Amino acid sequence: MKEFKRTLITAALPYANGPLHIGHLAGCYIPADVYARYLRAQKKDVKFVGGSDEHGVPITIRALKEGVSPQDIVDKYHTLIKDSFEKMGISFDIYSRTSNKIHHETSRDFFKTLYDKGLFEEKETEQYFDEKANIFLADRYITGECPVCHNASAYGDQCENCGSSLSPEQLINPRSTLSDAIPVKRKTKHWYFPLQNYEPWLKQWILEEHTEWKNNVYGQCKSWLDNGLQSRAMTRDSNWGVKVPLPDTEGKVLYVWFDAPIGYISATKELTEDWADYWCQDDTRLIHFIGKDNIVFHCIIFPAMLKAHGSFVVPDNVPANEFLNIEGDKVSTSRNWAVWVHEFVKDFEGCEDVLRYVLCANAPETKDNDFTWKDFQERNNSELVSIFGNFVNRTWVLMHKLCGGKVPVLHRDVFDETDQQIVSDIADAKAKVQTALENFRFRDALFEVIDLARKGNKYMQEKEPWIKAKSLDTNPENQKLIDNCLYLCMQLTANLAILANPFMPNTSKKMLHMMKVVDRILEWQNAGKIDLLRTGYAMRAPELLFRKIEDAEIEAQLEKLRSGSALNEKKTEQTESVSVQSVLPALKDQIQYDDFAKLDFRTGTILSAEKVEKADKLLKLEIDLGFEMRTIVSGIALHFKPEEIVGKKVVVVANLAPRKMRGIESNGMILMAEDADGKYIFINGDTDCANGLAIS
Ligand code: MF3
Ligand code: ZN
Repeated sequence: MKEFKRTLITAALPYANGPLHIGHLAGCYIPADVYARYLRAQKKDVKFVGGSDEHGVPITIRALKEGVSPQDIVDKYHTLIKDSFEKMGISFDIYSRTSNKIHHETSRDFFKTLYDKGLFEEKETEQYFDEKANIFLADRYITGECPVCHNASAYGDQCENCGSSLSPEQLINPRSTLSDAIPVKRKTKHWYFPLQNYEPWLKQWILEEHTEWKNNVYGQCKSWLDNGLQSRAMTRDSNWGVKVPLPDTEGKVLYVWFDAPIGYISATKELTEDWADYWCQDDTRLIHFIGKDNIVFHCIIFPAMLKAHGSFVVPDNVPANEFLNIEGDKVSTSRNWAVWVHEFVKDFEGCEDVLRYVLCANAPETKDNDFTWKDFQERNNSELVSIFGNFVNRTWVLMHKLCGGKVPVLHRDVFDETDQQIVSDIADAKAKVQTALENFRFRDALFEVIDLARKGNKYMQEKEPWIKAKSLDTNPENQKLIDNCLYLCMQLTANLAILANPFMPNTSKKMLHMMKVVDRILEWQNAGKIDLLRTGYAMRAPELLFRKIEDAEIEAQLEKLRSGSALNEKKTEQTESVSVQSVLPALKDQIQYDDFAKLDFRTGTILSAEKVEKADKLLKLEIDLGFEMRTIVSGIALHFKPEEIVGKKVVVVANLAPRKMRGIESNGMILMAEDADGKYIFINGDTDCANGLAIS
């Protein structure tokens, strides 16, 4: 294995167009922070950089909608986000922002270097332009009919009904999602980065040399590489962003995914004069912590850019997490279905470590996972309070009662097997936590920490020093047994402080205070030892490490989530009807009754549903129409599990010409409604009626 001299840890730069939610924390900031703290405890040369991503179309659109400037938007959220990170103990060495001058310079230089090397393709194309909003419409800001399945509200980059990947030109009857205007075509010039030229290198580098990457990451990379890469435009028409560093490019900026990752470099420059050591030396280990939606950018596009530039290291690992859902439902900022960090730190002041603990213990490391308030309460009450806190508290109370508040003597002459066992448990815990952390298995690492506390409790229970204390008069030898037990429990406590420190730094701090020792004890090399607290050394009184979380607090949060989401639904509806910048598709052109009469709608029942192989979005349905059975392939797999829709009633367009999808002939279409959040719902799923009825 390669020897690295230093580590540079990055965590995805969050968009400064909204507050931070706990999904962000679980996805990359907590693991990145745990890792950074762990390496610091090992006295490794490490820097941890982050910052706000302040460019991109969503920010300009938000500004447009709120009637303020993009700078106002990013100022507001940058401050809020930075504060949330601080309160949660995310220990960035620097938290910067991409609107800083140094970042503009760095990313312009980067672009210019690639340009001067002749690595861009310059292309003039026609793109849709919204004359009402005075803006070019990229990707999601244009909608229209899908040329493949004729879904009326496909986006400029994709049809969510049939999963086809589209370009805006393919849409039938395109409209602007901003103003609802019919867009016009305008010529525009952009610079494309030919990713396909880096394909051989990427294949070698990832698929051959980085087989150790997490499965979810490696798998996504493999599928991108197997499908073949294409040129991507690295510039956009906009007035908000890093200006293209070429003459006559007024109104053009760098694509946000071009400049944002360069933000890692700019932030390092801002942090230290030695920034080049971290970016340009082969013995630097660069690690990107991100959420799964960022994988292609960090594993393919940015590395290809770095490689093309030639002066920089490429990442050694990209441990991406999956998504965290809330109470069984996807996080939705528009529906306010989220737990906001700035609200959590207000509602649960002093419980930041608990959130860090829960998000880490339940991290979506290998698959999407669910946060529930009940689980939050349970993990606090039955793990942190009853196991960890309880062990430390018992140890301290008994040590004050039975050992005069000082570290007792360890009597080797009465050392028994149980003592020996706990001594090796302490050493093993260090090794286990370490191995797990080094492999980015944060959940396992944290489990081992709690497990050591659990073993401590068991040990104490077996030794029962309080019972031995009762017969001290008749058995003075008992004092030795009491001393040994408390000596080892105290050393175990000191070990817990070291091992828990990367995960729960405030808790470790409190423990240091009780133990009257300085920070240095938290160095990783001290873990595993049983001579951390010296015999005769006086201790402070115990402190409460964790408090119980009451049902009422959990109820209040659940209530907030439910009502907050309902409230927000109303609010968005209102603002959107005022500005007419609705997310609902525009009404189609009027039709005559005869057009309608051509359609044959029938009622049916879904008898079976199964996933279509190699198509994330498709389900193959068998539908009973009463007079016959139909096979229909429907693009609803992201919205429903097959088993949950069996038995549902649906309306079927029964005379649609058959069409083959993934080799399966689909005979008709089922009707679904799409809510404001893009989620499909059955409109008549519970109606009980016969099948085959005509609808008119
Ligand atoms: N702002 C992006 C997001 O939230 C992440 C940018 S990461 C960076 O998805 F590498 F580009 F900085
Ligand atoms: Zn489609």
